[in-house]
Amino acid sequence: MSGVFITFEGIDQSGKSTQIEHLVEQLNAKCPGREVVRTFEPGATELGAKLRTEILHGDAINARAELLLYLADRAENVSKIVLPALARGCVVISDRYIDSTVAYQCVGRKFSEPEIAKMMHFATDGLVPDLTFLLDITVAESRRRLSTLNADRLEQENNEFFERVRSGYLKLTEKERRIYTLDATLPADNLARKIYEVVLNVLD
Ligand code: TMP
Repeated sequence: MSGVFITFEGIDQSGKSTQIEHLVEQLNAKCPGREVVRTFEPGATELGAKLRTEILHGDAINARAELLLYLADRAENVSKIVLPALARGCVVISDRYIDSTVAYQCVGRKFSEPEIAKMMHFATDGLVPDLTFLLDITVAESRRRLSTLNADRLEQENNEFFERVRSGYLKLTEKERRIYTLDATLPADNLARKIYEVVLNVLD
């Protein structure tokens, strides 16, 4: 049984965590022979947890340094969690991965995509997801769902930044066939059913 790598993407407050929880529950209940490993970026490894605190809750960071910290976190996540689990034949589900960097750093922060693509290839050793769910919501809806009380550094960016990030994601869907886009304003149960159906199709 070969491993399957599934990622969830979307602008902040798009409901990724809820959908990941539903999917993990469904897979555990209905495919008991299949080990499911859940991870996230940034922050899933010991080093990543420290990087997450610095990136999201620390003092202002230079945008190039910020990008490199996300990539360092990803290199750890891939080598310590994702690749070993895929080698065991697991279904690996990651809350954010390479498409976040394209949307937030390349499009949001306006860095060169080809240049960053090379760096991402280096950080991940070329590992691309088998399937990606993009939970799409408008920036206005994301803002409505966001609690301003404990917003992290990224969540405090302005609306133009998030409009660029969302458009970056939507542009990616035009060229990446692995990305399955969903209207994230649909009821959560409805979304969970669709996601599970698509996942069943890629499991062997
Ligand atoms: P989250 O864990 O709540 O989704 O927050 C992670 C934040 O980091 C989110 O605002 C998106 C941002 N991010 C990037 O800007 N680039 C990246 O490569 C990743 C993985 C996350």
